[in-house]
Amino acid sequence: MTAVIEISGLHKTFRGWRRGPKVALDGFDMVVEAGQVHGFLGPNGSGKTTTLRALLGLVHADSGDMRILGTTSADYIHVAHRVGAIVESPAFFGNLSGQRTLELLAMAGGVPRKRVEETLVAVGLRDRGEDLVKSYSLGMKQRLAVASALLKQPELLILDEPANGLDPAGIHEMRSLVRELASRGVTILISSHLLDEIEQVCDSMTIISRGRRVTHGPVAQVLAQHDKGEYSVRVADPAGALEAIAAAGGSARLNEGKLVVSGVTDASWITQTLGTAGHWLTELTALTPDLESVFLDVTGTRPGNGLMSDVDDGWQPPAPAGRAEIEIEVTR
Ligand SMILES: Nc1ncnc2c1ncn2[C@@H]1O[C@H](COP(=O)(O)OP(=O)(O)O)[C@@H](O)[C@H]1O
Ligand SMILES: [Mg+2]
Repeated sequence: MTAVIEISGLHKTFRGWRRGPKVALDGFDMVVEAGQVHGFLGPNGSGKTTTLRALLGLVHADSGDMRILGTTSADYIHVAHRVGAIVESPAFFGNLSGQRTLELLAMAGGVPRKRVEETLVAVGLRDRGEDLVKSYSLGMKQRLAVASALLKQPELLILDEPANGLDPAGIHEMRSLVRELASRGVTILISSHLLDEIEQVCDSMTIISRGRRVTHGPVAQVLAQHDKGEYSVRVADPAGALEAIAAAGGSARLNEGKLVVSGVTDASWITQTLGTAGHWLTELTALTPDLESVFLDVTGTRPGNGLMSDVDDGWQPPAPAGRAEIEIEVTR
């Protein structure tokens, strides 16, 4: 497989006047292979946006190597036309239609006008193309943003938290759009703090925590690596069954009236051990790990409702204008 994005040892420290230096990236590594939908997962404040901004030359990294479509970041300008990205939420003029917005962007980017129609169709906005952007839902604005990134027919699409602020229907639409683009061969890097998002749409993933990669690989493989061989067992006498498992050298605990047996490679050991001790199973379920438990394992943070935000230090992107605080970037 060919790597479309290769990042190694990326460091970035921000120095704010008020809050002091802030290490955003602490030797971060990531590889995204061609043709994949790659999930970039991590809590708020873990360094996802900083990574993507560094990759696109929007912020200077202090050190580290980055390659995108085979070129170093210094030569990014030569491949920029092959990359579509939505990193900072683009602001659109409410009084222009979606179609007019794309026409202007196409003109500015030297993109043939027929791409406007094609991208409107691709993101499912064709019927609403002539309506003013201010009448669009958040999901539609997000799709317009994706359309703007698709004008150039990019090989690589980078989406920073595309599900942010969307309702479940919007998230569903965004997910089908990502799948549809992937089926046409576009490599997609999609960052999210929503575990669900990554699990449902991505082939491979990188988990970042406090500016470092904590785990990576195909989603199924990451999940398998964290499989603890646990089984949930229902029996009439869970406490008695727990003793039988312990007596046979196994390890188990009680959970909500069921027995959870762990470290098991072959489930028949459970049925045999319990059956021999006179405990008849009425249910045996393999407890496969989900990303939420993997995330807990690798970062020690606890996500709630699928949202991970415990590393957040409350920093918000600066408002476009009229903000008193100035942040200075330090380059080594
Ligand atoms: N311009 C900036 N000035 C100061 N601190 C920043 C700036 N951008 C990001 N940070 C800090 O860097 C860390 C990583 O932020 P970010 O990359 O936005 O995380 P994520 O996108 O994963 O939520 C956070 O602690 C954030 O507060
Ligand atoms: Mg971010």
